[in-house]
Amino acid sequence: MAELLQVQGLGIGWGAQLIQRDLNFSVQRGEILAIMGSSGCGKSTLMRHLVGLEQPRQGHVWLDGADIHQGEESELSQLRRRFGVSFQGGALWSSMSVGENLMLPLRLFASLSERAMVQIAEFKLALVGLQDCFHQAPATLSGGMIKRVAIARSLMLNPELLCLDEPDSGLDPVNAARLDQLILSLRQDLGTTVILVTHSVPSVFAVADRALFLDDRLKTMTAIDTPTQLLTHGTARVREFLQRGPGA
Ligand SMILES: Nc1ncnc2c1ncn2[C@@H]1O[C@H](COP(=O)(O)OP(=O)(O)O)[C@@H](O)[C@H]1O
Ligand SMILES: [Mg+2]
Repeated sequence: MAELLQVQGLGIGWGAQLIQRDLNFSVQRGEILAIMGSSGCGKSTLMRHLVGLEQPRQGHVWLDGADIHQGEESELSQLRRRFGVSFQGGALWSSMSVGENLMLPLRLFASLSERAMVQIAEFKLALVGLQDCFHQAPATLSGGMIKRVAIARSLMLNPELLCLDEPDSGLDPVNAARLDQLILSLRQDLGTTVILVTHSVPSVFAVADRALFLDDRLKTMTAIDTPTQLLTHGTARVREFLQRGPGA
């Protein structure tokens, strides 16, 4: 089956408030899908629902045909382990070395020897171009390097689907472009499917096969298509977003 993730009639919210509704889309295997929209429209909230951390108000999310919100807790946690997640502003533990930060998911979810864990961590660091940073303290790294380490950590359990929430926030344009290249190379080298939450228009054009737009006024998605198609045929708000950026 080419579809890895399916979202059907999804409604998401906090408390009594419904933030987005009638979300319908699927993510193909090997695809990079961008989720975009202005600040506060619900991108991070949607991501938390897609990986099973929050319970939907309406609708379903299926991974490979299995509902990630309904079923036995043991089965659900198996399903959720197939996601790699890097949260918005997700920090590293400052008291641990980079290598220890990476090995944490393995200590929690796998039973491997110390030597095996170190090898996996070194391999993931090499994937993000930081092979020499294993013993470094997070405080000694630049902002761009920390984002790379966070991505390496989200790869530790070999996820089929990588969910990155604004991985380039706070980076200068050069480092943001490097991060885009990293995302493309992960897809190419590992075949990882990626959901990229972003409000960076350059990033959408650089990496996304398709993008969906969450409209904060209409409280639903108004488009899903290739970035180029959206720029010419999207709704007025989508075109405005793509032409002027999220501040428009
Ligand atoms: N943990 C939470 N509890 C209650 N409301 C929240 C929580 N997280 C986000 N919200 C609210 O949900 C809305 C969408 O937030 P968010 O998903 O973070 O938007 P975005 O990531 O697009 O900037 C906002 O109104 C925000 O205040
Ligand atoms: Mg957010």
